[in-house]
Amino acid sequence: MAQSTTDNETDGIVIFDHPLIAHKMAAIRNKDTGHRTFRAALSQIAGLMVYEVTRSLPTESIDIQTPTQAIAKCTVLAGTITIVPVLRAGLGMIDGILEIMPEARVGHLGLARDEQTLEPHAYLNKLPADLDAGPVILVDPMLATGGSASAALTMLRQAGASDIRMLCLVASPEGIARLKADHPEVTLYAAALDDRLNDKGYIMPGLGDAGDRMYGTV
Ligand code: PRP
Ligand code: URA
Repeated sequence: MAQSTTDNETDGIVIFDHPLIAHKMAAIRNKDTGHRTFRAALSQIAGLMVYEVTRSLPTESIDIQTPTQAIAKCTVLAGTITIVPVLRAGLGMIDGILEIMPEARVGHLGLARDEQTLEPHAYLNKLPADLDAGPVILVDPMLATGGSASAALTMLRQAGASDIRMLCLVASPEGIARLKADHPEVTLYAAALDDRLNDKGYIMPGLGDAGDRMYGTV
């Protein structure tokens, strides 16, 4: 098995610096972008990001016989990969990721943030029994207070996951601090790091409520 790390990783945080992702983020942030375009861009960004997120996945060497009857030394992913979206908004990232990694399994966690207390409430936990069979990638577009992500990571740990990465679109400094304090071993990949939270716990400038924008329930 081999493992490698990314060049742009600092202290377990990778913020993407890619023109194509930045271009699509402009559409996602725009208040005039409707739910159809928002959903498409969210899925596309997730697909682009997964290339980098998977760079550090464990691999193994195998021998493959080619049509020339020769043996080629090949590298394949080791273990079973599980993608876990946090409902609702994390669902919008799944199709883009599965297009690149159709062999991955999908577990589901349902968490809703109480808009008064900002505390997450868990309402669904559907995970494979053998989560330790390989890497787990937790996906949720928004890392705001970090309460939902921290709770989701605790649920993954309790279910047996040992090798976890998290993929989000927009992270706040407050969310990153919470993640580092509660789950320092988890590497976070984000398309953008924003300025701060407002007094309602929304990321500024952010993109609004990701679930509502995805499904047109604004
Ligand atoms: C959003 C988002 C995260 C959470 C982030 O979900 O998708 O799960 O808020 O906030 P936090 O970091 O402060 O916990 P929400 O609870 O609004 O549910 P939804 O996707 O169903 O709208
Ligand atoms: N949840 C969202 O969808 N957006 C935010 O800015 C914060 C939490």
